[in-house]
Amino acid sequence: MKRVLYAGTFDPITNGHLDLINRASKLCDCLMIGVMENKSKKPFFSTEERSEMIKKCTTHLKNAEVISFDGLLAEYVNCNHIEAVIRGLRATMDFEFEMQMAQMNARLYNKDVETIFLMTTPQFSFISSSIVKEVFALDGDVSGLVPDVVLEELKRAFHK
Ligand code: COA
Repeated sequence: MKRVLYAGTFDPITNGHLDLINRASKLCDCLMIGVMENKSKKPFFSTEERSEMIKKCTTHLKNAEVISFDGLLAEYVNCNHIEAVIRGLRATMDFEFEMQMAQMNARLYNKDVETIFLMTTPQFSFISSSIVKEVFALDGDVSGLVPDVVLEELKRAFHK
C-alpha cells in the first residue's frame, strides 16, 4: 500500500492513537495523519496545537506526515491518491458507528478505497481524548495514557 490515511480529531493525541499510528506505519509507504474537525465536537486544542503535538511524538516515523483539512474525508481521499483509510476499533461500542462511516465513505469515494480496521491494543482500549481531558482537569493522573509532549501541553493549557 502506498498512501494510507488515518484521520481523527486527536484532541489531544493519546497513546492509544500513537500505538495505532506506529502499527499502521509498518503497513504502508506513507501514512498521512489527518487532523480534522468532527462537527459534533468543539475541540479544546486548536488544529495547529493538535497537529504540532502529533508531529512531535511521531518524529521517529520517517514515513508519517501530519496534515489537516476540513470537509469530507472522502473528498480528501479522492483528491490525494489515498489508497486506504485506517480506523481503530477499541471495543464493540465502536463497531456500529465505524461500519456506518465506512459504508457512507465507500459510497463517496470515486475509486476503490479500503477501510482497514486495526484492533486497539488492550491496554489502551478504555482511553479516549475526552476521558483524558476530564481526568486531567480534575487532577487525576493521566501519565502513561498520553505522550509526554501532550502531558506538558495539558499542564500549560490548564495552568498547572
Ligand atoms: N485510542 C485511543 N482513543 C481512540 C482510539 C484509539 N485507538 N480510537 C478512537 N479513539 C477515541 C478518540 O480520541 C475519540 O475520543 P473523543 O470522542 O473523546 O474525542 C473517540 O475515540 C472517537 O474517535 P474517532 O472515531 O476517530 O472520531 P473523531 O471525532 O476523532 O474523528 C472523523 C472522526 C473526524 C474521522 C470523522 O468525523 C470524519 O471523517 N469527519 C469528516 C467529515 C466527514 O467526512 N463526514 C462524513 C463521514 S461518513
